[in-house]
Amino acid sequence: MKRTVVTMPGDGIGGAVLDETLRVLEAVGFEADYVHADIGWEFWKKEGNPLPDRTIDLLEKYKIALFGAITSKPKDKTLAELDPSLQDKGLVYYSPIVAMRQHFNLDVCMRPCKAFTGNPLNFIRRGPADTIEEPPVDVVIFRQNTEGLYGGVEWTDPPDNVYDALMSHPKFEKNFADVPRKDLAVSTRIFSRNACRRILTAAFEYADKFGYKSVTICEKPNVIRETSGMLREEGRKISEKYPNIDLWETNIDAQMMWLTKNPEDYGVIISSNMFGDIVSDGFAGLVGGLGFACSANIGEEVAVFEPTHGSAPKYADYEVPIVNPMAMILSACMMLDHIGETEKAVRIRKAIETVIAEGKIRSYDMLKLKGSQDVLEKGAASTTEMTDAIISALN
Ligand code: NAI
Ligand code: MG
Repeated sequence: MKRTVVTMPGDGIGGAVLDETLRVLEAVGFEADYVHADIGWEFWKKEGNPLPDRTIDLLEKYKIALFGAITSKPKDKTLAELDPSLQDKGLVYYSPIVAMRQHFNLDVCMRPCKAFTGNPLNFIRRGPADTIEEPPVDVVIFRQNTEGLYGGVEWTDPPDNVYDALMSHPKFEKNFADVPRKDLAVSTRIFSRNACRRILTAAFEYADKFGYKSVTICEKPNVIRETSGMLREEGRKISEKYPNIDLWETNIDAQMMWLTKNPEDYGVIISSNMFGDIVSDGFAGLVGGLGFACSANIGEEVAVFEPTHGSAPKYADYEVPIVNPMAMILSACMMLDHIGETEKAVRIRKAIETVIAEGKIRSYDMLKLKGSQDVLEKGAASTTEMTDAIISALN
């Protein structure tokens, strides 16, 4: 059956990495129709809506999407850049990514961080007797994508009913009763049991299917007792169904300290929205950083696959794009896995492995160059050359 995939290039380098990714998908023999959908800053400026309804409709209809990246700008610029005819309409900018995740309840975010052998950006550490070790990092972070600190339930100068509810808590009353209300900012961290169960189940099933020996719940239940506590409580229950997988529990702060000490010991990691964002960026840094960090946002019906990086506006207008397309290509591999085209995903990953191991073609980030127009003269491969190398290695 021929698939239809929604493509959302977005802003900046999003379009360049997406175009290259489609070439790889074609070369591997993935047959699909692609339907373009609008998203990002351009549509905020023109229409006052960075996630137009027509894009929501396409996602609703086709369920599967590849997404490049968008640009968000600080508050003062959001209004200034809006089309003059829309300036006095009281429009407020919101992140189209967060909105998309919440609209379709894309609550399971997966961020694999696997070191490719031969990647000069891989983390190395000092071993015994002055040896140098390169730990084989292979971690998949499952991040709850819709709730917690990014849930958007927040106030400055909270309204009466919220304030009264807060005052009913003895700790709030003791510590904040004297603070003027206009000087109070409150961001909530709400977890629901069902969402906890969904992220935990997705993580355990994945660990089971791909043979990971441990699942780590990375939170802070000793301090954030209610929310982190709920995730841990549900995690302990679900882990009983998987006797062959060890359940580990770490605190986010300690986890970041251990990040460089023993990253190879971890397998699947589960965390809430904000801590998951932190811990996944931490692990991504060990395996090459933003040029390699892929992700999936998976809901019950709709799934969107995107690199972790943003629109890198500095490099957006280069005549020959220099950014590394691998993060986007690896995100497309996650799409292939998701829709049961695993064999094609395996072939693409093998091709990337080959290109990295051979070491002949390297993008500017892999050469540790500062991004600028002259990196090509210094021996870096362009986005297109890197893609060509991956396509050649497919065959
Ligand atoms: P960014 O990820 O766009 O770029 C940061 C730096 O990482 C770049 O200057 C570049 O050196 C490097 N980089 C990024 N992608 C790369 C690639 N494929 N290959 C090689 N190097 C790469 O983050 P930044 O500069 O903080 O934000 C730029 C814009 O992107 C902002 O407007 C921000 O709001 C937005 N953003 C969007 C995201 C998304 O669409 N998911 C995520 C993060 C930021
Ligand atoms: Mg991030």
